[in-house]
Amino acid sequence: MKKLYLIGNQKMNMGLSELEPYFDRLATIASTSDNVVGICVPYVYLDMAQGMLQGSKVLFGAQNMYYKDSGAYTGEISPRMLEDFGCDLVIIGHSERRAYFHETDEEINLKVKKALEYGITPVLCFGETLDERNNKMAFSVVETQLVGALQDLGEEEISRIIFAYEPVWAIGTGVSATAEQAEEMIAFAKRTLEEQYGVHQSIVLYGGSLKPSNADEILSKPSIDGGLIGGACLKLDDFEEIINTKVE
Ligand code: PGA
Repeated sequence: MKKLYLIGNQKMNMGLSELEPYFDRLATIASTSDNVVGICVPYVYLDMAQGMLQGSKVLFGAQNMYYKDSGAYTGEISPRMLEDFGCDLVIIGHSERRAYFHETDEEINLKVKKALEYGITPVLCFGETLDERNNKMAFSVVETQLVGALQDLGEEEISRIIFAYEPVWAIGTGVSATAEQAEEMIAFAKRTLEEQYGVHQSIVLYGGSLKPSNADEILSKPSIDGGLIGGACLKLDDFEEIINTKVE
């Protein structure tokens, strides 16, 4: 049986009153699953996540961070702060951050390095837009994003990263990549990591409209190690079904 990594990304959703029953039930769901379960929450709920999830089988973390330890960066959150709240994970370079907050590969690289320095596992996102796919640039865009994000990192550090291929056109649209498209790109990413950095066993997830109806098919592909789940993690019935996926 393949051990899958199933990580929820709540984005800017949910509130205090919903989260208490949510964390409680998620811990119960994870306790009986053979898969690795994670959840990335808005910063302001990390305290609650730590209180309710630390000691459970659920890994938890943030959806972003800044790449400095501290300083005059109004409104930003440092890796040291994430460490204070016991974060296991931090999403870095999500396409929404790249698109709406203009994050560059260079900044993403600095964030990945900082997270690793603090022992927080970066969930490093990459993926092409629809235009890039239609113009046959998907592979070169993905390679550029990977190489940019991994600048100056060695094999040992890279092997501590969880990667997530998230084609921009599949995120939040209800239309996922086909299992074949996801497999093809993730196999390519793994080859790139192996050939360019000597990383033989990388973990690469698929993200983009993953839901109970397509999880089995996508997650059973040989190169795909799990999923980064946005919309479907907000409904625990759906997230539970995905968490309970069993594939060979
Ligand atoms: P989605 O989001 O599952 O709602 O498409 C995935 C993500 O953006 O991480």
